[in-house]
Amino acid sequence: MSISIQRMSDAIGARLTGIDLRSGIDDAVMKEVHQAWLENFVIVIPGQDLSGDDQIAFTEWFGPRQEVRTVKVVDEGPQNFMYVANKKFDGMESVLPEGEMQFHTDQCYYETPSRATILFAIEIPAEGGNTKFANAYRAYESLDDAMKSRLQGLKALNVYDYDANSTIKRYESSPDAPRYAHPVVIRHPETGREVLYINRLMSDHIVGMDRAESDALLEELFQVLEDPAHCYEHVWTPGDLVMWDNLCTLHARTWFDPSQSRVLRRTTVAGKAPDAAIASAA
Ligand SMILES: [Fe+2]
Repeated sequence: MSISIQRMSDAIGARLTGIDLRSGIDDAVMKEVHQAWLENFVIVIPGQDLSGDDQIAFTEWFGPRQEVRTVKVVDEGPQNFMYVANKKFDGMESVLPEGEMQFHTDQCYYETPSRATILFAIEIPAEGGNTKFANAYRAYESLDDAMKSRLQGLKALNVYDYDANSTIKRYESSPDAPRYAHPVVIRHPETGREVLYINRLMSDHIVGMDRAESDALLEELFQVLEDPAHCYEHVWTPGDLVMWDNLCTLHARTWFDPSQSRVLRRTTVAGKAPDAAIASAA
């Protein structure tokens, strides 16, 4: 197998062709996939025809799977898949909310966010439901030294209230919603690079900071993270397998017509608690 790697934007993302994951997991191929993922943060492997078992084998090459912790939208069978779906599929009991979803990182409201998220596209609407990915290394690097110094030592409380704010943050979160305070700037465990680790949907406030000051600071940083210059927008095709680094990227979903089906099978790789970065600016 000869893999070809094509970058999808200046900021983030690469498309890998020449791979057939149904023919089994080949260690040499997976090492190339891993390297492409570390260098491009999001990889798209198009044209796959993956069974659930194939997807599990691909996922577990990177490490143990993270069990679904957030929602009830889970296949109750032994495979424990979560479907990102707006219609019932494969024994699901309920569906996920539709429409636009703000930028976030998966499970940042737990001490141990998932390391990677993998989605396999099964049904895709004719228009919309795209996934925007942002490069959080680049966002951090674009800050000036004064801002980098200001962020040193700060933590943000990340909260996800699935009932009140599942896709757009509009309301106060319930005190029962899962939450965890992570450093605003973390050090990526594999690359050692600094990353801006906050997001609009889930980062509620800076710990210990006055609310108005916190809101203003977070909004300024969200604007940097969401700058189109740091993003790539993926238009899905059924058969796409997409994997993103959940520590150095953010993702968001664009609106789509709720009368159309959108079904993606999701698996995640378990991660560790991210460490704070020692800011290089001083
Ligand atoms: Fe997500």
